[in-house]
Parts: sequence; structure tokens; C-alpha cells
Amino acid sequence: MQPTGKLFIITDTTVGRLYGRTLQREFAGGGNDVVLLDIPPGEGSKNHRSVHALHTQLLKGGVGRDSFVIALGGGVVGDVAGYVAATILRGIPFIQIPTTLLAQVDSSVGGKVGVDHPLGKNLIGAFHQPAAVYVDPDVLSTLPAAEYRNGLAEVVKIAAALDHRFFADIERNVRNIKSGNARTVIDLIHRAIALKAAVVMKDEKETGLRKVLNLGHTIGHAVETASGFRLRHGEAVSIGLSVEGRIACDMGLMAKKDYRRLVALLTAFRLPTRLPGTMNGKKFLAALAADKKNEKGGTRFVLLKRIGQPVVGVEVPDQFIRSFFQ
Ligand SMILES: NC(=O)c1ccc[n+]([C@@H]2O[C@H](COP(=O)([O-])OP(=O)(O)OC[C@H]3O[C@@H](n4cnc5c(N)ncnc54)[C@H](O)[C@@H]3O)[C@@H](O)[C@H]2O)c1
Ligand SMILES: [Zn+2]
Repeated sequence: MQPTGKLFIITDTTVGRLYGRTLQREFAGGGNDVVLLDIPPGEGSKNHRSVHALHTQLLKGGVGRDSFVIALGGGVVGDVAGYVAATILRGIPFIQIPTTLLAQVDSSVGGKVGVDHPLGKNLIGAFHQPAAVYVDPDVLSTLPAAEYRNGLAEVVKIAAALDHRFFADIERNVRNIKSGNARTVIDLIHRAIALKAAVVMKDEKETGLRKVLNLGHTIGHAVETASGFRLRHGEAVSIGLSVEGRIACDMGLMAKKDYRRLVALLTAFRLPTRLPGTMNGKKFLAALAADKKNEKGGTRFVLLKRIGQPVVGVEVPDQFIRSFFQ
């Protein structure tokens, strides 16, 4: 795809330093006028202040309906830049160039864009599909190990929710995945994107099937919020997958064997699987309760019956959640 209008690359300062100029030159070589904009790295930038500042820079920079936004970075940049594209001039097209494993396998695909609100994560947003997603696995070479692990949590989620064969292949390939073996990683990214894209194509606006991708995220978001975003999203999701697994076992839904496989795989990737000892129980339960407002009649979970067999909309009695704090 070759856009014709003015291009606005939105990145964060870390990714900008590594790849911003190269990408700017690349697009400018195609004859485009290319502006490079950045936000500070991290979840702290995923808010209305960044969106407002970027709106202003785009408007002053001469954005038009033929302009494109290019999101160059991790999930934070993708979510913010995508939301800026969705809202400026009532929506202009955007392209995703994800640079973290998490963004490559998950957040760049599916069109969910948005920012956090002081009252909760991802509460402000839109559905705005990218015109294209370009994945270059080579950029993962500069990604810190902790960020790589962070992405693996979403890969485990996708496999556990959608495909038991993929899950078993990941179990078999732990060593190659951890060492970043190129062929293994490319295959991993391919399969994860294909699985997610298939779900999104069937249920773009999350009225049903797409909810399965929230596996691990009910507890995960509550842990992430209660930690004051000190935990990375993927780390919180890993804890969420494991704690929700325990709940599914306690409720007699999932067999212990499957729960153990899930925890073993997350542990093999050195991802956390327990609520942090320092977790403020009150904050955690409040964050979970805030989620309740989204659906009638209590917190609804996606739980696993087996690896690859999720059940959506499970009502979990409070006792199963409170048991973690006793
Ligand atoms: N929209 C969706 O469907 C969706 C899905 C999953 C997660 N998310 C969101 O994604 C966000 C998390 O994304 P993330 O984990 O990518 O975090 P992130 O965007 O904060 O990136 C993590 C860190 O890695 C750095 N970085 C990025 N690419 C790099 C590279 N190639 N080399 C060196 N450093 C690099 C960044 O500067 C940042 O400091 C959360 O806000 C989460 O809610 C959205
Ligand atoms: Zn996620």
C-alpha cells in the first residue's frame, strides 16, 4: 500500500530513537511528506493528555482527509495513535507497525484503539481497523527480555483460548521460543495473528465470540490497575490466566491437569502466576467491581473447560475470589 497524502508517524521516544528516522526516510523516499511525532514510553502515556497533544500537532501540521497515521511502537503507541486516527477529522486511516512481541501477536490486530481513564483501563476508545499491519520480527532484537516475556503471555492466552494444538506446540518449543530462534518466533507470530484475525473477522465488535480473547483479562485488568500499572500488561495477564485457572478448577469446571499445564507453561517463560504479596486486596476488589458495571448481574468471566475450550459469561460467586485473600 502506498499512501498519497501527508503521513504522521506516531511513536514513543524509545522506539523513535531506534527506528523513527529510518522509517521516516523510507516513506519520504516514496515522495510523501512525513512528520515524526512521539510520546513518552509506557502506559502512563495512554491517556487523554497524549491524545489532545497529538490532535494539536496533527492539526497544526496540516492533517487532511487524505493523511495517514502510522503507529510505530508497542501496544501503547498502537492504542493511542489508532485512537488519534479514529477521532481526528472524524477518522482518517492508519497503519500499524508493531515493534513489541505483544503488539505483533495481539494489539495491532483487531481494531481496538483507545486510552485509559482514571476510573479504569481502556474505558475510552473506538473500533478503528488499521488499513494494514506490517510485522518485522527483526525489530524484536532490541526488545528487552522482560518485554519479550510480556508478549508471550498474550501468545499463551491466544493458544489456551483457541487452539490446543498450538498450545502443545508451544509447550514442545519452549527452549527455542525463549532463545528467540528466528524460525520458531516467526511461526509463533503467524499462528497467533491468524487465530486472532479469524475471531475478529467473525465478531469485530465483540458481541459474542470475540469475548474469548478476554481470557485472563478480568483478573488481569484488576491486578494491573491495583498495581498502579507497575505490573506490565502481559505480566498481569499471566497472573490473570493462572488465577482464573484456579477459579475454574475450584468451581469444578476445569481439570487440575489442564490448570497445571497452563501454570507450568507460564512459569517456563518466567512469567508471574500468583497475585503479588504486596497486592492491596481492597484496591484489587474495587477494580474488579468496576468491571461489574459492564455486564448485568455480577462479574462475568471467560473460563476454560479445557485448553482450547473456553466458556464465556461464567458468573463467579464472590467466595471463589475472596478465597485468594484469606
Ligand atoms: N488494542 C488491543 O487489542 C490490545 C491488546 C493487548 C494489549 N493492548 C494494550 O497494549 C499495551 C501494552 O503494550 P506493550 O506491552 O507493547 O507495551 P508498550 O507499548 O509500553 O511497550 C513496552 C516497552 O517496550 C519499548 N519498545 C517497544 N518496541 C521496542 C523495540 N523494538 N526495541 C526496544 N524497545 C521497544 C517501549 O518503548 C516501551 O518502553 C497495554 O496498554 C494494553 O492494554 C491492547
Ligand atoms: Zn491483553
